[in-house]
Amino acid sequence: IDELLAEGVRGKRVFVRADLNVPLAGGTITDDGRIRAVLPTIAKLAEAGARVVVASHLGRPKGEPDPAFSLAPAARRLGELLGQDVAFATDTVGASAKETVAALADGRVAVIENLRFNAGETSKDDAERGAFADRLAELADVYVGDGFGAVHRKHASVFDLPARLPHAAGYLIATEVGVLKKLTADVKRPYVVVLGGAKVSDKLAVIDQLLGKADRILIGGGMAYTFLKAQGHEIGISLLQEDQIPVVLEYLARAEKLGVELVLPVDILASSDFPDLKGKTPAEFITVDADKIPADKEGLDIGPKTRELYASKIADAETVFWNGPVGVFEHPDYANGTKAIAQALTESGAFTVVGGGDSAAAVRTLGFDENAFGHISTGGGASLEYLEGKTLPGLAALEV
Ligand code: 3PG
Repeated sequence: IDELLAEGVRGKRVFVRADLNVPLAGGTITDDGRIRAVLPTIAKLAEAGARVVVASHLGRPKGEPDPAFSLAPAARRLGELLGQDVAFATDTVGASAKETVAALADGRVAVIENLRFNAGETSKDDAERGAFADRLAELADVYVGDGFGAVHRKHASVFDLPARLPHAAGYLIATEVGVLKKLTADVKRPYVVVLGGAKVSDKLAVIDQLLGKADRILIGGGMAYTFLKAQGHEIGISLLQEDQIPVVLEYLARAEKLGVELVLPVDILASSDFPDLKGKTPAEFITVDADKIPADKEGLDIGPKTRELYASKIADAETVFWNGPVGVFEHPDYANGTKAIAQALTESGAFTVVGGGDSAAAVRTLGFDENAFGHISTGGGASLEYLEGKTLPGLAALEV
């Protein structure tokens, strides 16, 4: 983007593909981290006199307009953060978008409506995606890719559009890739990875890769129970991905052979009921050893002994990558595990990277200072796929 700015962007229509996919509750943004993360690129372009057209997806609407997924709240928040009125087009490539962009003065910013209100955005059909990219291309002279959270998607605005316009990567993508590169190249050891979240199947490929790179992998969250079950423990009614047991067994065996510590919870907070995340009424749970979860209960957070164990495994690390909460942190009674991980990261002298929408939101909503971490990534799937060593369509398109 610096080259682009040096060439001059005054009066040019610059399309910024951002990731404004922020969590919303009843139309209110509960965490604006992703909007703040792309601000430097938008502000710099506006200062340089560009006519900035910001585009993003939000949620997963079904290829047609759906008011529940409107980007209007994100556009308003962007305006507040930028300190200028941001125009909003009520469609993506239709009359409103064309008029809004045509009316933009130099140095002003517009947001167009959710890209995924158009089936062409996410289509698996190259021609359909290309046709939508052609229409997007009419709105701009230059393309800046800065939606790091979506670079793993082969979507029209991420992959096909940059091929149609002069293009550059924005500051957020440059920062994210710079940090993640450090985790793939000369990583400082001990390198500790904390993996949580619900779905073991989403994280399998990354565990596979990390077995050759990390010194310790600490497992928490919903996926821990598939590991515990694979080890022959009773897990009651805890989350289980039965079809993944053979894969998990292979990982456990490989970890042992390679001398990688694959660490599992030793105690668990278990309950017969999933907690009330809305009213947050106090939960009823018991603390049990990880091999003694009663048949009628499910595990919802790591227990106190595990908190201590994981903190000690993090304490002497030089590098830590953390993806995925280790418990149902949205309920205060099950937030202590995730809090303990965040706390251990802030207390270690390690270079710490937090990846994934949920972990990043957890860190902020649990009251931690973002600056206490080395880097908080805006990408969940994107950062994991980067670490897996995959080619990411949105980075390839920008030659990053
Ligand atoms: C994310 O939240 O990880 C990104 O915004 C990508 O969203 P998606 O998984 O719906 O493509």
